[in-house]
Amino acid sequence: MTQKPRRRVAVVGATGVAGQQFLVSLADHPWFELSVLAASERSAGRSYREAITGPGGALRWGCEEPLPERFASEPVVDARTLDPRSVDLVFSAVESDAARPLEESFAPHVPVVSTASAFRYEDDVPIIVPGVNHEHAALVKRQQRERGWRGYVVPIPNCTTTGLVVALAPLARAYGVRSVVMTSLQALSGAGRSPGVAALDILDNVIPFIPKEEEKVQRETAKILGRLEGDRIAPLEIAVSATCTRVNVRDGHTLSVSAGLSRAASLGEVAETLRAFGREFVDLGLPSAPPELVHVTEDPYRPQPRVDRTLHHGMATVVGRLRSDPVLPNGVKLVLLSHNTKMGAARGATLVAEYLVHRGLA
Ligand SMILES: NC(=O)c1ccc[n+]([C@@H]2O[C@H](COP(=O)([O-])OP(=O)(O)OC[C@H]3O[C@@H](n4cnc5c(N)ncnc54)[C@H](OP(=O)(O)O)[C@@H]3O)[C@@H](O)[C@H]2O)c1
Repeated sequence: MTQKPRRRVAVVGATGVAGQQFLVSLADHPWFELSVLAASERSAGRSYREAITGPGGALRWGCEEPLPERFASEPVVDARTLDPRSVDLVFSAVESDAARPLEESFAPHVPVVSTASAFRYEDDVPIIVPGVNHEHAALVKRQQRERGWRGYVVPIPNCTTTGLVVALAPLARAYGVRSVVMTSLQALSGAGRSPGVAALDILDNVIPFIPKEEEKVQRETAKILGRLEGDRIAPLEIAVSATCTRVNVRDGHTLSVSAGLSRAASLGEVAETLRAFGREFVDLGLPSAPPELVHVTEDPYRPQPRVDRTLHHGMATVVGRLRSDPVLPNGVKLVLLSHNTKMGAARGATLVAEYLVHRGLA
């Protein structure tokens, strides 16, 4: 891989769950230099360490990796005052309502890679999952042309959709997928810090509803697995039935997935198809890419979030419990695990940005 000139980047929402993970992903990045930390008015004017210190003095740093010292004393700026021309790319990690006007103010000037849903469903906006549909990135040209922007917005999906499409894409390509029934067991960090999930609600409990989540999974899956036809994405014709639940796990979303294939395939073939998936993408050698996109385990007791979520720095989708599904036509079923704040948020978004640089789009 040829040497890229270093790019200055900003993280907006740097104090949140996803934002903190961006600090970890970007701390020693060979191409990106994190030069602006932005958040809300609440944090603005404080040092990063002060901004994430709670009223009782507790440091609310949620990553397993230590807070990179060099960022601790950096000032946090109010995202509304961030001049996008002072950086080459913005990573956005704020809730959708706040993200919309902010991303709209940055994108006329620089590329914005976003973890928020604000732009995901617009016709000229691709939702990119590295290795799955990175070729959809070409759609940013339409965005720039039609909106008159020099930059663009590229969102990543909802963190539950991410693991699902990584496992479905190889099956869709090799055999076709007509229908999917999925139940998620989603980690607490997926709900963020503001307000997050109250300890008393989740301890000794499972919460069987996450607002708007099931609709997002259904819509995003069809779009991501769709085909880029000229200047638009034709969504995949696929029926997706999702049930999303919150469980008492810190990081890592577990999904139980049944898929009805267009043609029959043996379990051995399916396992091989999953294992072989994404090799060309991995071979691009992008800095945050894992050595394999899908890791298939034969152990009937895996994947488990506590044990498997850190595989390949949280960038692998770990698939196990591969079985036939007797209910769906040509049915197969599996359990998968995807790290929601790494592949599903910051490190996944960093990999998207690396791909955009690789393609000459950033
Ligand atoms: N958590 C995950 O696993 C995950 C995965 C994929 C995608 N996402 C998406 O990532 C985004 C952030 O989620 P999160 O879980 O990190 O949430 P979070 O922990 O609640 O953090 C929210 C962040 O947004 C900032 N913020 C809030 N209002 C703002 C405003 N008006 N202007 C500027 N900054 C503002 C907060 O800053 P202050 O500290 O100053 O309030 C904080 O940095 C959401 O869109 C979410 O859907 C999250």
